[in-house]
Amino acid sequence: MPIQWFPGHMAKARREVEEKLKLVDFVIELVDARAPFSSQNPMLKQVLQNKPKMIVFMKKDLADQRETAKWLHYFQANGTKTLAVHIDDKADIKQVIQQAKNLGEENMEKLKRKGVQPRAARAIIVGVPNVGKSTLINRLANKKIAKTGDRPGVTKQQLWIKVGKDFELLDTPGILWPKFEDEQIGYRLAALGTIKDQLLSLQDIAAFVISYMQKYYPEMLKDRFAIDHDMEDMWEIFEVIGKQRGCLESGGKVNFDKVADIVLRDLRTGRLGRITLESIEA
Ligand code: GTP
Repeated sequence: MPIQWFPGHMAKARREVEEKLKLVDFVIELVDARAPFSSQNPMLKQVLQNKPKMIVFMKKDLADQRETAKWLHYFQANGTKTLAVHIDDKADIKQVIQQAKNLGEENMEKLKRKGVQPRAARAIIVGVPNVGKSTLINRLANKKIAKTGDRPGVTKQQLWIKVGKDFELLDTPGILWPKFEDEQIGYRLAALGTIKDQLLSLQDIAAFVISYMQKYYPEMLKDRFAIDHDMEDMWEIFEVIGKQRGCLESGGKVNFDKVADIVLRDLRTGRLGRITLESIEA
C-alpha cells in the first residue's frame, strides 16, 4: 500500500511529545470512537513509560452506540479509565473533568509520598490528527485559547490552562502519528479523515466504506443511496450513487471522484448514520 509515515516526521513527533510529557503528571489520550483501536498510537505506551493515562473516545455522536459500549468495555477491562464523549454534551465534558481529577489526585498522593509539594495535577491531551484535541482543550478551558509563539524565532511558551482548581492542562496538545500496521487500518483512518485524503485514492477509500457498510450497516446504505447489500459490482454502485446525486460530466458520464467525495462527506458528517468502522469481534 502506498502510504507511509516518514521516519523523520515520526522521530520529530516523538521528540516533541516526549518533551511535553516531561512537564505533566498524566496523559489524556483521545481516540476516535468510530475506530478506537486503529486511532490509538502504537508507540505511546513506550513514550509514556509509567505515566498514568486515561482514554477518551471522541465523536461518540457519530459512532454506533452498541460498538462503542463494547469497545469501552474492552479498554476498561485492563484497568484504564476510559469514557466516550460528544463534545457538545455538557455531562460528558463534566465526566472528563471528574475522571481526570480522580486520576490527578491518585497520582498526587503518590507524589506526596515521595516528598513532592502538593499542587494541581498537570495533564496533556494527546492524539492522532483530527481526533478533536483542540476542540476538547477549548471546551475544558471554557474559552478560546490564544495561540502563542507561532511566529518563527519566538520561543514557544508553555501555557497552562486551569480546569477548575483541580488540574491544569497544557494548552497545546501532543500530536501522535497514526499507525499503519495494515491496509485496513489505513483505510479506516483515511475514511475518518485522520490521514490526508491524498495518501490513498479517494475512490478506494469510498469503496472501502461502501463494502464495510454492505456488511455491517446495509440498512443505512439502502436508506441513503438505495444500494442493496448484495450489489457486488463497485463500479455499478458508484454509477447508481453518481446518477442519483447528479455527479455527471458532460456527456452524462459519472464522475467517480465526486461520488467518492460525497460518500466520505456523508460518512464524516454523520449523514449516513452512526457508524463504527471496526468491530471488536472482527
Ligand atoms: P489536528 O490539529 O489536526 O491535530 O486536529 P485536532 O485533534 O486538534 O482536532 P480538532 O479539535 O481540530 O477537531 C477536528 C474536528 O472534529 C472539528 O471539526 C471538530 O468540530 C470535530 N469534533 C471534535 N469533537 C467532536 C465530537 O465529539 N463530535 C463531532 N461530531 N465532531 C467533533
